[in-house]
Amino acid sequence: MKRIHDFVSHGYDSDAGIIRNKNDRAIEQLVQALTTLTPPLRLIDLGVGDGAFLSRLAEHIGEARFTGVDLSSKMVEKAAGAVPGLEGIVSDIRHVAEHTKEGGWDVAIAHFVLAYVDIETLIAQAKHVLRPGGLFSFVTSTNSAANVCRREIARLRGTGNPLDRLAAWVGERGIERTQTPDDFEEMAAALAAQGFSVASRESHSTRVVLNDSAEAYEFGITKGWGVNAISIPLLPTGLLLKIAEMALDRCEYPYVAEHTVEMVVARKDG
Ligand SMILES: C[S@@+](CC[C@H](N)C(=O)[O-])C[C@H]1O[C@@H](n2cnc3c(N)ncnc32)[C@H](O)[C@@H]1O
Repeated sequence: MKRIHDFVSHGYDSDAGIIRNKNDRAIEQLVQALTTLTPPLRLIDLGVGDGAFLSRLAEHIGEARFTGVDLSSKMVEKAAGAVPGLEGIVSDIRHVAEHTKEGGWDVAIAHFVLAYVDIETLIAQAKHVLRPGGLFSFVTSTNSAANVCRREIARLRGTGNPLDRLAAWVGERGIERTQTPDDFEEMAAALAAQGFSVASRESHSTRVVLNDSAEAYEFGITKGWGVNAISIPLLPTGLLLKIAEMALDRCEYPYVAEHTVEMVVARKDG
């Protein structure tokens, strides 16, 4: 898993598309919520990626101390380059509690990581790092686009061609391993179950159109949106990328799906 995320760190582009749009909106949403907290603030980003969100957030808040956690050491290096003074922690989000002080942060951030970590574990880790009254900026895609994938997987499974069946297996793997919620209500219930109250919520949708397999590879693999489908243990990265290329070649285009993003700021109950 770590190897494939190190690979994605080369093509990860937070300056465009869905991620750029998310960063713009999530910064506005969080900055508004932060007016209720007194600086200097301690902020921790779980799955920090290239650090673009923290680096841009830093321009809008007063004195602050930043911590970035990522499974990929390459991503942590990138984030450290983008956020001066960043404390980088190379760790699986699921084990963050082992590397951090309980209640040591005022703000926890977790954006676009539910393809890799289940929602209960993620919220439990955010709860561990936050002090009572701390804020959690939680952003995720929903399952809105999964039905388009499921239809394509069913078509591939039905052709009788062994390569199509392999492509269908890769797609099924991606869907099974992605633990994104169906909707906001599911997120809110998971937060409430662990003692968080929703302070603000926003939702927006983007139409994703992929015209051919090259565009699908760029979106799914180079930019990382579908890499959990090919996080197959023990196989070398080069072979995993070939499998992805083959699977995407078998799909029908254009692929058109509504990608819905839910953005929540929740408060850890005091
Ligand atoms: C889609 S990117 C999102 C990055 C950033 N939060 C953003 O919104 O731009 C997911 C990030 O999570 C990291 N990641 C994946 N699985 C992880 C895990 N189990 N623990 C920690 N980080 C993980 C990846 O290396 C990648 O940097």
